[in-house]
Amino acid sequence: MSYTRSIYFIALVAFALYAFNGGSPPLSPNQSVAQLLETFGDEPLPHKVKTGGNVSAERGKDIVLNGFSDQNGRKSKRQSKHFTCIACHNVEREDPDLSNPSPEARLKYVTENGLPFLQGSPLYGIVNRTKFYNGDYYKKYGDLVKPAQDNIREAIQLCAVECSQGRALKSFEIESILAYLWTIDLKLGDLLLAPEEMELVQRAFDTGRGKEAAIDVLKSKYLDHSPATFVDPPKDRNTGDGIVGNPVNGSLLYKASCQYCHYEKPFSFLTLDDDRMTFDHLLRKAGTYQPHSIYQVIRYGTPPKGGKEAYMPHYTKEKMTDQQMADLRAYIEMMANS
Ligand code: HEC
Ligand code: HEC
Repeated sequence: MSYTRSIYFIALVAFALYAFNGGSPPLSPNQSVAQLLETFGDEPLPHKVKTGGNVSAERGKDIVLNGFSDQNGRKSKRQSKHFTCIACHNVEREDPDLSNPSPEARLKYVTENGLPFLQGSPLYGIVNRTKFYNGDYYKKYGDLVKPAQDNIREAIQLCAVECSQGRALKSFEIESILAYLWTIDLKLGDLLLAPEEMELVQRAFDTGRGKEAAIDVLKSKYLDHSPATFVDPPKDRNTGDGIVGNPVNGSLLYKASCQYCHYEKPFSFLTLDDDRMTFDHLLRKAGTYQPHSIYQVIRYGTPPKGGKEAYMPHYTKEKMTDQQMADLRAYIEMMANS
C-alpha cells in the first residue's frame, strides 16, 4: 500500500471504530464530573454561577490566592490583613482516595506533591460538595453555621469574616470566587474509576442506557461533605497517652503543617525554624497546658485576640490523627536531643 492509501485506510478504520462505538469519542479525564452527572439526568448542583457585572473567575482566583483582586487596573481592598484563603485551604487535590480521605494518606500525598497539610478542607472539588461546616463546627461558630450548612455562598462569606478575620465580601466577589471554584471542580480522572466502572460510564454516555448506575458509580467515588470531629488533646500530655511516634512521619508533618505558616509564609509571628533551640522549646512546652504546647494548639487552636487578629485554626480528627501528633512529638524530641 502506498503512503497516502495507508493513511486513508487508517482513517477509515478509526472512523469505523468511532461510529461503532456509538458515535462518541471517549470521555476525557478532564471531563467535569458535575457536568457529566447532569448529562445523566442528575439534579444540577444548587450553586451555579450567576454571571454578569464584575463577576469573573480571574477575579475570584486573585482573591483566593492573593487576598485582593486586581482586575481592569482597579485594585480592591485586601480581604483580610492576616490571611489569604490558601493559608488554610489547598486549591489542589490533596487526597489520593476522595471517597475515603485519611490524614495518613493525605500527608504522604501532599509531601509528594509539594503541598501543605492544612486545617481547612481543600477548595479543589468543593463545588461538588453540598454540605459545609459539618459535624462539630457548630460548636465553634454556633448559629452562624446554620445558613452556611447548605449554601456555599454563605459558607464562603462566613469563612471570609470568621476564619479569615477580614472584611465581608461583596456579592460580585463571592460570585467571582464561586466562578473560580468551578474551574477547580472534580474531573473524571480524579475519581480513579476501575476499567469496568469506566466502561459502564462510557456506555451510559454513548447509549443513554444505565444512567442511574453510572450516577451511582460516580457519586460513590467522592464525599458530598467533609466530616469534622473535634477531639481533645491526650489526657496525659507528658507521655502523649503513651502512643509511640514515628519521627520520620513527624518531620513530614513539621514541614508541611507547622512550617508552612510559621516559617515559609507570613501568616504568623511565631517562627518555627530548624534550630535545636526551637525544638527544645517545643519539647519543654509539650507537656504543659500553655499555648505553646503542640497538643494544645493542634487540638484547640488559638483564639483571635481582640476580635481582629490572626489566630490558629485547630485540626479536627479528620485533619490530623492522634498518631500523627505522637509522630510530631517524636520528631521534636529527636531534634531537641540531637
Ligand atoms: C485561618 C484559616 C482559614 C482561612 C484564612 C480561610 N479559611 Fe475557609 N475554612 C477554614 C476552616 C478551618 C474551615 C472549617 C471547615 C473545613 O474546611 O473543613 C473552613 C471552611 C470553609 C468553607 C466550607 C468548607 C466545608 O467543607 O465545610 C469554605 C467554602 C471556605 N472555608 C472558603 C474560604 C475562602 C473562600 C477563604 C478566603 C476568603 C477562606 N475560606 C479562608 C479555615 C480558613
Ligand atoms: C494555617 C496556618 C498555621 C498552621 C498550619 C499552624 N499554625 Fe500555629 N499559629 C498560626 C497562627 C496565625 C497563630 C497565631 C499567633 C501568631 O500570629 O503567631 C499560631 C499560633 C501558634 C502557637 C502559639 C503562639 C502564641 O504566641 O500564642 C503555637 C505554639 C503554634 N502555633 C504552633 C504550631 C505547630 C506546632 C504547628 C504544626 C502542627 C502549627 N502551629 C501549624 C498559624 C498556623
